[in-house]
Amino acid sequence: MDKMHRRVWGLTVASVLLSVAGVARAEFPEKPVTLVVPFTAGGPSDKIARDLGEALRKQLNQPVIIENVGGAGGTLGTARVATAAADGYTLLVHHIGFATAPTLYRKLPYKGIDEFAYLGLINEAPSTLIGRTTLTAKTFADLRKWIATDPTKVNLAHAGVGSASHLCGLMIQSSLKAELNTIPYKGTGPAMSDLMGGTVDLMCEQATNAVPQIEGGKVRAYAVTSKERMKLPLMASLPTLAESGLADFSVTVWHGLYAPKNTPAPVLTKLNAALRSALKDPELNKRQEALGISVVSDARVEPAAHKKFVEAEVARWAKVIQAAGAYAD
Ligand code: MLT
Repeated sequence: MDKMHRRVWGLTVASVLLSVAGVARAEFPEKPVTLVVPFTAGGPSDKIARDLGEALRKQLNQPVIIENVGGAGGTLGTARVATAAADGYTLLVHHIGFATAPTLYRKLPYKGIDEFAYLGLINEAPSTLIGRTTLTAKTFADLRKWIATDPTKVNLAHAGVGSASHLCGLMIQSSLKAELNTIPYKGTGPAMSDLMGGTVDLMCEQATNAVPQIEGGKVRAYAVTSKERMKLPLMASLPTLAESGLADFSVTVWHGLYAPKNTPAPVLTKLNAALRSALKDPELNKRQEALGISVVSDARVEPAAHKKFVEAEVARWAKVIQAAGAYAD
């Protein structure tokens, strides 16, 4: 083929590629986007995903569907997205468990955190140590004494090995040097129902799900797990675990948004921009603030910063888990 024809051929191929990329970029999303929540409905991750989904719907002009895939501490839902089509239509909303699973599960149902594209962090929330209202202990000091009488008789609910409630429970047991009877669920939604029903005794639950039940008198609050007390008027009197004698105790639960790793860059850019705008949505912020939570700053919605943060969390929690020898499998 002579030089002229080669140049024309080259221009033709280039214009076809540009138009395909352009079409892909211009049209995404052309159908509903699914947010996979790796826990059952009714828990904090589900609530965060639904609130975020409503804000994302406005940005993407497409319906946002929530798909709950519970089980194995969130690893089944995470695997669902790791192996989904890398087209931007199946995303994962997950928390600190995304960073602890690679250490806790020596046989993960996906290859690890590099199976994902990072779209940005969403929010960060304290957890609370809560109990059934029929417990006689009114303060953490009373609770500590009650636990000490026979830890094996104390039923602590969580959402599966590697869940935020499980990790927080691990840290409380290690601080108290007490091994409780732990009861796993596929999410803290159903666990909360049993706690309110009095069939389990305690749970370490994220403020997202705990604050309405504490304010409604449905569960008894003993402490908050963050370094600082919550600022919400009805929660401000709740002491931190650090104030209550567990020196340096600090657990907060962050959530992030992920896509399968080979999702095309223009689609990732569009999703990250939509997340960035969604986190500024007044309705989303009003709902988060009513729970004493704030969405993350713009800098933490930056994909590279999100990935760097997760890598640091993997390293941090690996030390805690290896020291506790608390593997899931
Ligand atoms: C949930 O939504 O059920 C929680 O995030 C589970 C957990 O405790 O990690």
